[in-house]
Amino acid sequence: MRILITTNYEEMSIEAAKIVAGQIYLKPASVLGLATGSTPLKMYENLIAVHKTIGLDFSQVTTFNLDEYIGLSADNPQSYHYFMYENFFKQINIRRENIFIPDGTAEDIFAESKNYDALIESKGGIDLQILGIGQNAHIGFNEPDIKFEATTHKVKLDDETISANSRFFKNVDEVPKFAISMGIKNIMLARRVVLLANGKNKAAAVYKALCGSVTPEAPASILQLHQDATFILDKEAAADLPQDLK
Ligand code: F6R
Repeated sequence: MRILITTNYEEMSIEAAKIVAGQIYLKPASVLGLATGSTPLKMYENLIAVHKTIGLDFSQVTTFNLDEYIGLSADNPQSYHYFMYENFFKQINIRRENIFIPDGTAEDIFAESKNYDALIESKGGIDLQILGIGQNAHIGFNEPDIKFEATTHKVKLDDETISANSRFFKNVDEVPKFAISMGIKNIMLARRVVLLANGKNKAAAVYKALCGSVTPEAPASILQLHQDATFILDKEAAADLPQDLK
C-alpha cells in the first residue's frame, strides 16, 4: 500500500492524472476502471488537457465505470452516463464502443450485472481502477454491510450516501434509492488501484480504510489486502492518519 499526501486538491488531481497518463503511455490499449463524483473531476480535466496539448491518445483505451443509479437514463443530467460524457468522454478521442457503464434502466438488473462482469472479463480485466471514497467508506456503491458483495450487483443506497449525493439533485427526494455497482471482487481483481480523497469530510473514512480492521462495514478497508493500491490524499483527508503513515 502506498500513500501519497499532497498539499491540496489540485496537486492530488495532477498526481492522479500522471498515473493514468503513464498507464496509457505504457499500454495504449489499457482497460481503465473509472469513478464519478466530485473527487475525480479535476483529474479528468487534467487528462483532457494532456490529450489536447500533447495528444495523449485514448483511441485504444477501454473504460468501465463503477456504478450507475437505477432508473436514470443516459440522457438524465444526474446520471453517471451523462456525467462521464460531459466531464470526460466528449472531450477526448475515446471510441464510443470502448465505453462501458452499467445500464441503470435495464429491466433485469441481475442479467445486466452478469453481463457487465462478463464484459470486464472479456476485455482482459481492469489494468487501473480509479476510486473515490464515500464518507461511510464505500467504494463504488459498495455500502457498509455485514458481507462483501463480490461482483456487479444491485445496491440499496445508505441514507448517508443519499444525503451526501443530494447536492447534485434539486432535493433529497429526487436521489434514486438504488444503484448498480461493481462488486469488491471486480475492484480487487484490478491490477492496480488508485483511491483519491480530499477534504476533511473524508478524513474519518480514510482512517478506517487504512488503519481499521478489514471489514465489510468499511468497504474501502479491503484495499489493505490489494497487491498494488495507492491512496492519493490531500492534507485534510489525511488529517486523522497516525504520524508513521504520513
Ligand atoms: C462514484 C463512486 C463513489 C464516489 C464516492 C465519493 O462513481 O463510485 O464511490 O467515489 O461516493 O464521491 P465524491 O467524490 O462526490 O465525494
